[in-house]
Amino acid sequence: MSAGRPAGDREPPGDREAAAGSGAAAGPGSAAAAGPAAGSEPVTITVCPDGPLLVRGGYELLDGDDRPIDPGRATVALCRCGASAIKPFCDGSHKRARFRAR
Ligand code: FES
Repeated sequence: MSAGRPAGDREPPGDREAAAGSGAAAGPGSAAAAGPAAGSEPVTITVCPDGPLLVRGGYELLDGDDRPIDPGRATVALCRCGASAIKPFCDGSHKRARFRAR
């Protein structure tokens, strides 16, 4: 953890976290497997300051019709700013949009 940040507070997501939601992710409605083995491990959701929600663990990601979305990776960054071009995933646009959650 970097100095000056409260315990448990993480650095705002960089390109690595944004990449967690880009690239190999299938679009909504994908029939591919959804996330890492759902239920195999606890799910954690980390609220990144002024950035996405990082989801880790045995989650299953579903679209609005309850169809699985394959995130293509174990950790997924979900957009909460509304500016991403690849929703529901974060593509780093929150930085350009100067999203502030507080
Ligand atoms: S939170 Fe990153 S693009 Fe919206």
